[in-house]
Amino acid sequence: MRRYLIAGNWKMNTTRQTGVALAGELASAAPKEEAGVEVLACPPYPYLIPVGEKLAGSAVRLGAQDAYFEAPGAFTGEIAVEMLKDCGCQYVILGHSERRHVMGETDATINRKVRAVISGGLTAVLCVGELLSERQAGQTEAVLDRQMDGGYSGISESDAASIVIAYEPVWAIGTGVTATPEQAESAHEHLRKWIARRYNTAFSEKVRILYGGSVKPDNAESLLGQPNVDGALVGGASLKAATFVPIIEAARKLAAGG
Ligand code: PGA
Repeated sequence: MRRYLIAGNWKMNTTRQTGVALAGELASAAPKEEAGVEVLACPPYPYLIPVGEKLAGSAVRLGAQDAYFEAPGAFTGEIAVEMLKDCGCQYVILGHSERRHVMGETDATINRKVRAVISGGLTAVLCVGELLSERQAGQTEAVLDRQMDGGYSGISESDAASIVIAYEPVWAIGTGVTATPEQAESAHEHLRKWIARRYNTAFSEKVRILYGGSVKPDNAESLLGQPNVDGALVGGASLKAATFVPIIEAARKLAAGG
């Protein structure tokens, strides 16, 4: 049984004060470890420490939104994996569509980051997903294969155990347009088959594949109820407890058997 992961990607939002307040609400909503659901908050870098302090003692884990692949040194403006670990992060989002399409990150760069995060002892949340034009041109699976080939390059099965995949169709991110549960399931199934081909079926069954793109309280249950959807990477709706907590609740309900 794969454990749901409900992750909040705060992106470049919140202030120190609103971020810490949100963390306090999440800590109350997820006070203890649960068998079926894991919760993650990924605030902006400057708030990792105060948010982490607020989450301390709760079951909510801390993650970052990116990392650099080099060890500490002369890389102005970048953040090393060991610094994130030092701040209490357990997860790092990598290859988010905004990093790919706004900052121009390539599969090769993302792969270096994935390897650095894993060798630093953290778990990578590797984001993949097609543009609207690619979907319309029937290229969704080819794009996913290319991003998976790139992201997983040179990674052994034991290291791949430290990767969670997030399928985030770019046309659904921040647009209010959500993939239908069937569209999400079909992409997730394709990704799991990719893992089975690259490693083996038994391993592919253990890998968690999150869906991201306009996940909200009213669509969470139908998405999370798909057999190959193992959680959600939530942007906009993760910024308020009133919209994030019901998504956690939807996962709890499904984990408890519906
Ligand atoms: P959204 O963002 O929920 O606001 O669509 C998801 C993401 O980019 O991770």
